[in-house]
Amino acid sequence: MRAFVTGGTGLLGGNLVRLLAENGYQVKTLVRSAKKAEKLLGGLNVEIITGDMMDIEPWAHHLQDCDVLFHTAAYFRETFRRGDHWTPLKQINVTHTVRLFEYAEKYGVRKIVHTSTNATLRKREDGKPSDENDRMNPDEALNLYGKSKVVGDQEIDKFLRSHRTPVVTFLPAWMFGPGDSAPTGSGQLVLNFLSRKLPGSFPSGIDVVDARDVAYAMMKAAESSIGNERYIISGHYTSLEELFAILQKVSGVQGPSKKFPIPMVYLSTWINERIAALRNKETDLSLDELRVMTEMKRTSGAKAARHLKVTCRPLEETIRDTVNWFRASGANG
Ligand SMILES: NC(=O)c1ccc[n+]([C@@H]2O[C@H](COP(=O)([O-])OP(=O)(O)OC[C@H]3O[C@@H](n4cnc5c(N)ncnc54)[C@H](OP(=O)(O)O)[C@@H]3O)[C@@H](O)[C@H]2O)c1
Repeated sequence: MRAFVTGGTGLLGGNLVRLLAENGYQVKTLVRSAKKAEKLLGGLNVEIITGDMMDIEPWAHHLQDCDVLFHTAAYFRETFRRGDHWTPLKQINVTHTVRLFEYAEKYGVRKIVHTSTNATLRKREDGKPSDENDRMNPDEALNLYGKSKVVGDQEIDKFLRSHRTPVVTFLPAWMFGPGDSAPTGSGQLVLNFLSRKLPGSFPSGIDVVDARDVAYAMMKAAESSIGNERYIISGHYTSLEELFAILQKVSGVQGPSKKFPIPMVYLSTWINERIAALRNKETDLSLDELRVMTEMKRTSGAKAARHLKVTCRPLEETIRDTVNWFRASGANG
């Protein structure tokens, strides 16, 4: 099978490119930096296409001859410096994503496998885990990035009403894993833990999943007859405290023992954000991220387990491999 993967230098995209190449796919991958791609994907038999989601026209023709488009590239931030972020969020995660899907159809791609997020789902009132139908309205999103993904999902619904190419949408939980070169928020948390920068934990609850398990589920979806479906890949519900205990076990680094009450964490995060804004810097923990971590929302991966027969590896394996990858890449905090 011939695949086109956007975001090949990302946490998810990089693991997906590797998996597909190892499984005999002919892979083309869109990257912004050929140098970064060489560092992360060098040695794999994949075709590197250099281009930007801000300007699709120059590279869209590379979709020709591809059976499946895996779209993982996104404007993905949980913390923002000053400035207008909604414009690029909307362009990359909404307008140009749909335009890319239109090109995919034009060039004969048979299936699109897209990445949204479980942050587009609302917490249920009845205490049960949220499922794929618990969709937020844009104004319910906990942050601007989440809002762009909610709007993106709505636009994909519209796309499906007037196009024939099926789209399978994945809604992953908070992803950890090797290959997190950005690093994303999870990788930064691991790096901060390893360099003992974290002051302590606070009551929290969040689903955590291995990017490699998400990549595997996406590959399975491409290979199945499944059409326009949405799948949460939720992994394991955990807390900061538990994550720190696992990090301590697998890394040998002593974790922080202090536990702060939630109101105190909100106050200090609010102050840190104000100071960071004045200095035009990003904070390690934003109020947006804090809201996500303290919402205690669980999401259900039951549908993906049923339809795609995917299982998620133990959390400890994910955290160990993530730590080992950072250490091997010289970024051990
Ligand atoms: N990480 C999570 O916890 C999480 C959870 C749920 C859903 N998701 C979704 O999963 C997908 C993959 O995210 P990730 O975790 O792999 O994040 P990531 O490591 O930051 O990867 C994002 C990728 O998008 C690329 N990208 C960003 N702006 C681009 C642009 N203008 N043109 C072309 N490529 C661009 C990045 O390229 P560069 O390498 O050049 O920056 C990178 O390869 C995203 O759609 C994200 O919204 C992530």
